[in-house]
Amino acid sequence: MTTSASPVPIRAVTGHNNLALPQVDVGTLPQPWDTIGRHAALPTLKHDDRARLDGIAHLNHFLSQEIVPRMQKDFEQNGVARFKEQYGRTPQSRDEARGVLEDGLLYPAWSRLRRGAMEQRQKLLTDALVSQSADHAKICAALSASAGNLELNPDLDMPDYLKEVHAHLMPGGYITERVANDATAGASYEAGLYSTVPGRSGPNSDGAGRALSAWLKEQYPDANPTRIFDLGCGAGLNTVAVAQAFPDAEVVAFDAGAPMLRYAAARAAAMGVTNIKFIQADIEKLPEDIGTADVVYTCIVLHETSLDGLRAIFRTARDHTAPGGLTLHAEQPGYDGKPVFEQVLRDWDGRYNNESFWSELHQLDLYKEMTDAGFAAEDVFTSAISAVPWATDSSTPGKFEDYGRTGNWIVIGGVK
Ligand SMILES: C[S@@+](CC[C@H](N)C(=O)[O-])C[C@H]1O[C@@H](n2cnc3c(N)ncnc32)[C@H](O)[C@@H]1O
Repeated sequence: MTTSASPVPIRAVTGHNNLALPQVDVGTLPQPWDTIGRHAALPTLKHDDRARLDGIAHLNHFLSQEIVPRMQKDFEQNGVARFKEQYGRTPQSRDEARGVLEDGLLYPAWSRLRRGAMEQRQKLLTDALVSQSADHAKICAALSASAGNLELNPDLDMPDYLKEVHAHLMPGGYITERVANDATAGASYEAGLYSTVPGRSGPNSDGAGRALSAWLKEQYPDANPTRIFDLGCGAGLNTVAVAQAFPDAEVVAFDAGAPMLRYAAARAAAMGVTNIKFIQADIEKLPEDIGTADVVYTCIVLHETSLDGLRAIFRTARDHTAPGGLTLHAEQPGYDGKPVFEQVLRDWDGRYNNESFWSELHQLDLYKEMTDAGFAAEDVFTSAISAVPWATDSSTPGKFEDYGRTGNWIVIGGVK
């Protein structure tokens, strides 16, 4: 072959190679999930599934750390100017700001990729875990039986929102039973959460539990709770962190989903945490004979309920708080007073992630809900809690807040 006869446009190729491409700083990528936070209740993921899960985590990391700051800059510098040209003022509401963002390129791309990352997470984990559900169920059953830490109620009447809404696109939600003693939902929740946040909640995905415990110790250094209730404990990720922070307390953790509780109980046993009892119950009305606790809390639960559900949970939490004790509800912060750009991003889960009560919750007056639930106005407070960095630094803090997936929450509380 002679080069003179070649039709290849050499100049164009050379020119492309010489382009000064912007360097993308991907920061610290989340550590591969299968190398950290190990315990005996974890399901086994094959090589390809682990690689896919890491890929989803890296995509989420890229979206929050590289796309969000550029999107914000574009909105503030260009989008707001375009809106002003047309209407003579800046966007005032979340809907106006969303309209501006939807006209650009970055928000639609970010939104579709974020949704795609969640769909991939759920598809990948459902396929990978359902095929091993029966064996995994036996492992979990043996772990919780040896610890004697699980009490199920097969006759429990489930609230409609758990039956009808499969939160964050998780097939079957928290309550579906696929095999006898199924623990798949809990396992899927732990592995999936790591890829979504991504990695920023620490190797045990317990950033909120560590934050809540640290906040409690800081605010009430002399408090020595003997009993703690965790309402809606899910896979027990944050419950274990609270139980480890208060080893002398008896922690009672409630959830409606048997597959979540089976996994939570097995996981706590596998991690050697012996001061938690897991009970299947509707947290809108706990078993009457369960008594009270010094601290009664929900942790990132309310957005998956309903207005009536929240009101019942607030009343139940107060009823089961011992006199002089604390009721606490930790959640994503509300929209009120936040810049409109931030509100649009925070509202994304309510629109595109099958979180049916998300948007309504974040516009509610929680002070009023607490006083309606029976607290005196002067005994209600709010506070901010932030995830405590993990000691071995295997979590990925990220440089930018991504409005919902970073470890910042609010607590609304009441002293009884
Ligand atoms: C997002 S998960 C959060 C779990 C956990 N608190 C955490 O910090 O990881 C919400 C959990 O609340 C439970 N839940 C929601 N409403 C409930 C209800 N009325 N009764 C019992 N559990 C409920 C769900 O089954 C699910 O496991």
